[in-house]
Amino acid sequence: MAEPAPWWKSAVVYQVYPRSFADSDGDGVGDLEGIRRHLDHLQWLGVDALWLSPFFRSPMADFGYDVADYCDVDPIFGTLEDFGRLVQEAHSRNLKVLIDWVPNHTSDQHPWFVASRSSRDDPKRDWYVWVDGTPDRPPNNWKAAFSQTEPAWTWDEATGQWYLHLFLAEQPDLNWRNPEVVAAMHDTLRFWLHRGVDGFRMDVIHALAKHPDLPDVDDPWLDTGRLDEPATHELIRGFRRLLDSYPGDRVSVGEVFILSTAKVAEYYGDDDELHLAFNFPPLFAPWDAAKWRKRVDRVAEEFEPRDAWPTWVLSNHDNPRHRTRYGGSEARARAAAVLLLTLRGTPFLYEGEELGLEDADVPKARQVDPGGRDGTRAPIPWDASPGHGWPGDPWLPWPPEPDVRNVESERANPASILHLYRRLLTARRASPALQLGAWRAIESPHGVLAYERAVDGDNGDRRVVVVNFTDQPHVVDLSGNWTVEVASDGAGEGEPYAGSIGADQAVLLSR
Ligand code: NOJ
Repeated sequence: MAEPAPWWKSAVVYQVYPRSFADSDGDGVGDLEGIRRHLDHLQWLGVDALWLSPFFRSPMADFGYDVADYCDVDPIFGTLEDFGRLVQEAHSRNLKVLIDWVPNHTSDQHPWFVASRSSRDDPKRDWYVWVDGTPDRPPNNWKAAFSQTEPAWTWDEATGQWYLHLFLAEQPDLNWRNPEVVAAMHDTLRFWLHRGVDGFRMDVIHALAKHPDLPDVDDPWLDTGRLDEPATHELIRGFRRLLDSYPGDRVSVGEVFILSTAKVAEYYGDDDELHLAFNFPPLFAPWDAAKWRKRVDRVAEEFEPRDAWPTWVLSNHDNPRHRTRYGGSEARARAAAVLLLTLRGTPFLYEGEELGLEDADVPKARQVDPGGRDGTRAPIPWDASPGHGWPGDPWLPWPPEPDVRNVESERANPASILHLYRRLLTARRASPALQLGAWRAIESPHGVLAYERAVDGDNGDRRVVVVNFTDQPHVVDLSGNWTVEVASDGAGEGEPYAGSIGADQAVLLSR
């Protein structure tokens, strides 16, 4: 008997951005207790796991991606006890919990950096990347993310050296070539593994090791030298060994922000590096059947020979929501949901996409993110009341139409996009073909992507998916008799497939 697949291959993961999910204490910022109180929504929806964006102690220069203590909860989000309760209750509802581990950099307020900065002789000096030079000339041409024009270096007046930060000056990069850093960071993983987390989303994982010579690069933002060093793969093998030494299939999901699917595939190693890696080229692809076909083919070409299991993501806290990117149409957002939840691999949903949310229009006076990402981080509206279920004014303005695009209203309406997500998740859970089956393209007209998902054998489970990327109907002939199991607009579910697909429609068919 073949070993059963690990849980994370057939799972659907739901990203919670804690600041914006649900607030329990009225300070306008979401918290862990808020998440706990809304687990019912996630269970009803039918996802298998949550990934929580950072909730650790942080001065919030990058809203938690600047960590000042890896092993504590920031008071704005609650306490370690709140986290324990959340994990326990999630587990009792069969929901796994992944947390966000931010190993590339700490906050400049982390005691490690405070010590490192205090003097050139401090034992922690070498925990960060310090370089000699003169204040008028940064050590190389690397640029900091967000601004993309400012150097990735800050001159420290008191000790007369530069320190490296690929992101904000408040986010100094750790020196992963120092074994003490490796050991200390392994301890932070153990801390949470002992508290029962089921895995980690690993931030900026492709950038941990820097080239020892810190060379100038041609493309100061994407080139190797600053990213994608061989030594990073060795570090990841160490994380993998650590995770695999715990029972229960703990999972690593790496944020490999390299826009090359071939490169992303390398981060799975020989089944000894990441369990899963985000592959962002599809997220940046326009809503176009041919372009999507190419992205899906690239994943198959690069991932299958390595037995690497793909991931799919349309939205997250760093990019405009896909409904917004695809032009705002709900019909398209619905079709995209069918695509996302039927490709071969583990899908990641971003909080609120199940409500068909678009980005908030955030007036200048309320913009707070150094990376311009406020719109996608607007709070989740829970009901139609003026406060939408938030006890105080939330930290960011509401996304469009919160009076109708909210959990309570959509749950009461079987025709809503929320119910579509739920039907898709139900169908997925019941179908080995959708969860683990092979993917094969089916010939289809220009503008349409059609494919089969199937498990081995003539009598094995099979599904067909037809996604119309255009605003025109198309005839799509299929051999055999098929029944509409889920339609993006709900039309004809349970009835025979009639051989055509409506404008902006997508269908999941079964036999
Ligand atoms: C990627 C995270 O997703 C993003 O939100 C953050 O700003 C950077 N990494 C830096 O940690």
